[in-house]
Amino acid sequence: MKLCIALDNPSKQENLKLAEELKEYSNDLWMKVGFRSFIRDGHEFLKALKDLGYNIFLDLKLYDIPNTMADAAEEIAKIGVDMFNVHASSGKRAMSEVMKRLEKFEKRPLVLAVTALTSFDNEEFKKIYGSDINTKAKEFAKNAYESGLDGVVCSVWESMDIKNITNKNFITLTPGIRPFGEDAGDQKRVADIKTAKEKMVDFIVVGRPIYKSKNPKEIVEKILKEIK
Ligand code: C5P
Repeated sequence: MKLCIALDNPSKQENLKLAEELKEYSNDLWMKVGFRSFIRDGHEFLKALKDLGYNIFLDLKLYDIPNTMADAAEEIAKIGVDMFNVHASSGKRAMSEVMKRLEKFEKRPLVLAVTALTSFDNEEFKKIYGSDINTKAKEFAKNAYESGLDGVVCSVWESMDIKNITNKNFITLTPGIRPFGEDAGDQKRVADIKTAKEKMVDFIVVGRPIYKSKNPKEIVEKILKEIK
């Protein structure tokens, strides 16, 4: 299992300070760059993280018509990030087109599909998607698998079911991790590290419990010890 840190700080300086502080662990860590950082700090920020030796997960959750998604995927691959994601609800045609477009790259990024956001509870999810989370997350995961993607973003609670209906090597990346029982914030389907391990999760994403902590390095060291 690998740790991916969500760099959702309000400023580039704070994100870089955290990345520099954790540099000695850069081989073991992935940095997740999402809307906030990418919109504000762009490619230069990604380059700074690369220079520090980190693997980068660009979390832009693409959702559009197939051709537009494939165009965006091609540009993302050119940046040289290590992983990015799309919404599984964009459909099999769009996901397949993304994978087809990436064939020309000798080394392409891993591509994951978002199943259900971890901030949804079942009731809220049902109102939008007309189905309970577990059923729909599995259906989305199967579509992503059949479209040639490398894995999915899901909650810990769906990870094992998804592996069972796809493949044990199909990656599950799970946000909503509260390593040692920290506050859930807006997340609804949270879990701790022990559960993530039991459910065979490949990547845990941790944001606020690390970057809002008074001693982020200490927390990261504790997590790394626990996931070894
Ligand atoms: O602060 P916290 O640990 O809740 O951060 C979780 C991160 O994972 C956020 O950056 C959020 O955008 C992202 N994410 C999520 N649920 C998904 C996909 C991504 O929470 N399904």
